Amino acid sequence: MKKPITKRDFVSLKSYTNAELAKLLDNAYRLKNAKNRITDDLKGKTIGLIFQKPSNRTRVSFEVGIHQLGGNCIYLGPEEINLGKRETTSDVAQTLSRYLDGIVARTFSHKDVVELAKFATVPVINGLTDLSHPCQAMADMLTIREHLGALKGIQLTYIGDGNNVCHSLMIISAKLGVNITIAYPKGYAPLDIVVKAAQELALETGTKITLTTNPIEAIKKANVIYADTWVSMGQEKEAKKRLKIFNDYQINKKMVAYADKNYVFMHCLPAHRGQEVTEEIIDGSHSVIFDQAENRLHAQKAILLYLLGKENIK
Ligand code: CP
Ligand code: NVA
Repeated sequence: MKKPITKRDFVSLKSYTNAELAKLLDNAYRLKNAKNRITDDLKGKTIGLIFQKPSNRTRVSFEVGIHQLGGNCIYLGPEEINLGKRETTSDVAQTLSRYLDGIVARTFSHKDVVELAKFATVPVINGLTDLSHPCQAMADMLTIREHLGALKGIQLTYIGDGNNVCHSLMIISAKLGVNITIAYPKGYAPLDIVVKAAQELALETGTKITLTTNPIEAIKKANVIYADTWVSMGQEKEAKKRLKIFNDYQINKKMVAYADKNYVFMHCLPAHRGQEVTEEIIDGSHSVIFDQAENRLHAQKAILLYLLGKENIK
């Protein structure tokens, strides 16, 4: 029998208030700057990491974060769980809830993470789906705040494919007051449903959201330039076509000349030098990509501590 569930998940940024997200970022900043990063807050707790796709940052930052907090984790790769194929996602969720205290899941279909969250009696964290990447967006906001001293009023320009990373950036920007412009080739716009949600949220915070197919217009006066791969995991067969279509959307020296002179360059990684960004930009002095990668650790520790009842975000 299914018991009533009183738990929260971190599947979608939309289900967190603006104030809650801001508090999570404050907590992440405090954890980053704590004298001692090793605690026993998650002592005796075990988190399962379900991955249907490869990962460097997400897997390692969660594993290290959980260990730093005194907990244990179990990596469950595509072969072990085989979500929805070996057994139903709801059976996986209910079984794992009898062993684990939390689940991190990286899936292709967003519905799989939603389904896991629905049937699990323990908190579920979205570790990237085809639709969104909320943990990345949290780390990105932490990075922007550290480098530019604020979020409200900052101009973030994302150039590339309007998919998962872009979607989460749009939602979090709308919620936290970061003006965001997305430039994409025709046919690769962010999903309407996400654009509409972001626009509604932006009305509340007075944030500007701009969509364009013109990358040069988009980058003008940008404080943050953001790139992601042109070929996301699962799209490998489209690589040749995509590389051609996205060709004019490369972040290079000519392009960044239009941005604010103190711009920062961001990329969720993994990156492809010579495709979405040139080597001189990603490895140049404006690039903050490894701070972003590091901040995954701190942002996720804050999320874990909240979901496992160790910290308040009110
Ligand atoms: N940015 C990010 O999620 O990286 P991984 O795919 O390596 O986890
Ligand atoms: N858009 C990329 C992000 C990787 C972190 C992908 O889905 O592969």
